[in-house]
Amino acid sequence: MNKLIVGNLKMNILSQTERERYLNSLQKELVGKKINNCEIILCPPFVHLEGFRKAKIKKIILGAQNMFWETKGSFTGEVSPTMLKDFGCEYVILGHSERRRYFCERDEEINLKIISALKNNLKPILCVGESKQEKEDNQTLSVISQQVKSALEKVSRTKAENLVIAYEPIWSVGTDEVPKENEIMEARVLIFKILIGLFGVKYAEKVKIIYGGSVSAFTVKQVCLDLGMDGVLVGRESLTPYEFIKIIKIISEK
Ligand code: PGA
Repeated sequence: MNKLIVGNLKMNILSQTERERYLNSLQKELVGKKINNCEIILCPPFVHLEGFRKAKIKKIILGAQNMFWETKGSFTGEVSPTMLKDFGCEYVILGHSERRRYFCERDEEINLKIISALKNNLKPILCVGESKQEKEDNQTLSVISQQVKSALEKVSRTKAENLVIAYEPIWSVGTDEVPKENEIMEARVLIFKILIGLFGVKYAEKVKIIYGGSVSAFTVKQVCLDLGMDGVLVGRESLTPYEFIKIIKIISEK
């Protein structure tokens, strides 16, 4: 199975000039690099999707950072899955902890988005994970379990192969703190068990389970490769093409 390397550019790249600079530097970093066994997905802010698509950088697949569940209509400020498809997106990040926290996204809404994304042939990257407080209260596994189960309610197992789940502990996002290997393993095993319960083993095995939170060239071995995770979700380090490509090279050379 190809490993997924997802770059979440968040609300960065503030101008078209900055975008061009980013894309040029990414292109330069990719020259002469053999990249095997990975899918690289970049998720820029909506306004840059067209610019990223036009750059046609080989090996780069486009994703979005969010979407609404309806396809059209009077929903001021929202972006439709149909639009994302038309702008070349193959993936969409859903339920990121920053959306849950700052925009009050709830599990039921994330579920509607997952169903809609799949229906519209977008591959959702569902983010789940506990806060620092929940970790201290030994709630990690129950939080993950609740988030995964609610997000996947009424999702058909025939869609399993298009589903990605990112275990992304909130306390690890942007902090340089990463979980211990056994903590990631426990989360992974739990998610897989839930998937088996929902879809059966054959389909559960098709879902990719990746890790996110302070992924860098220094941590990628510990949080992904050593544990046989299916890939990584990278925030900060995806903003510097040199660092992002370094992570990709490490994964691809494994
Ligand atoms: P980080 O962010 O890599 O900067 O920790 C990851 C994310 O929020 O997706």
